Amino acid sequence: MSIKIPFFRSKQENPLQDNELTNVPEHVAIIMDGNGRWAKKRGLPRVAGHKAGMDVVKNIVEAAIKYNVKILTLFAFSTENWKRPQPEVEFLLRLPKEFLHIYLPDLMKNNVRIETIGDFDSLPPYTKEAVQYAKEKTKDNDGLLLNFALNYGSRSEIMRAIKLIMNDLDDDKVSMDNIDEDLISKYLYTEGLSDPDLLIRTSGEKRLSNFLLWQLAYTEFWFTDVLWPDFDEQVFSEALLEYQKRARRFGGI
Ligand code: FPP
Repeated sequence: MSIKIPFFRSKQENPLQDNELTNVPEHVAIIMDGNGRWAKKRGLPRVAGHKAGMDVVKNIVEAAIKYNVKILTLFAFSTENWKRPQPEVEFLLRLPKEFLHIYLPDLMKNNVRIETIGDFDSLPPYTKEAVQYAKEKTKDNDGLLLNFALNYGSRSEIMRAIKLIMNDLDDDKVSMDNIDEDLISKYLYTEGLSDPDLLIRTSGEKRLSNFLLWQLAYTEFWFTDVLWPDFDEQVFSEALLEYQKRARRFGGI
């Protein structure tokens, strides 16, 4: 299927306006970085950047639907983010509830299903309750899968998988001969999901920060200096267009 990218006001604004998307990544993962710097540049508290970033999530969900992306995985809170000052941690963990309070009706209308990856049980009750409610409410939707990485860390995910596999070995539910890449994938939080085709990281940083280390083995990476609160449909479409040009060989020729 071929999808036209949106019409922007001027060619200058979007030099790619005549291009078409013919190969849309099925699964896009995003490290939404730069909220703090965005706020600092404006003399605002860091949390103002997170708040602005929350509204961008809604815009990018809409863009993802428009371009026919099937899965959007967003790194919303890492297992390392607990090291931030307590008020910032609390603000970040209250954002899912606020986001869902404002946008869940729209997400329902748009047939979006909400899921999470990460250590859900260790989240505070106000996060868990809001997100659990949204998961339940959207569970039969079959449009975009909006997958929040919440309290997620890839190394602990892999460690957890190893422990679960060892338990199942003990219980004879798994035998040593069965352990292969597919089996390991089934023990990760991302069980049943295809691996991301495209990873986007905003704000100029070029590292993975403990995000989806197993799942990104053959993913295409795209980095932009744009800070997450300034990220928009146009920048998103640039990433999708760049993805078209990548030759994915998965180790073959
Ligand atoms: C990194 O920027 C960003 C985060 C740790 C949080 C990302 C969260 C959002 C964008 C909002 C999430 C919205 C929902 C709906 C859950 P940073 O604070 O590290 O920025 P800096 O590197 O400029 O300091």
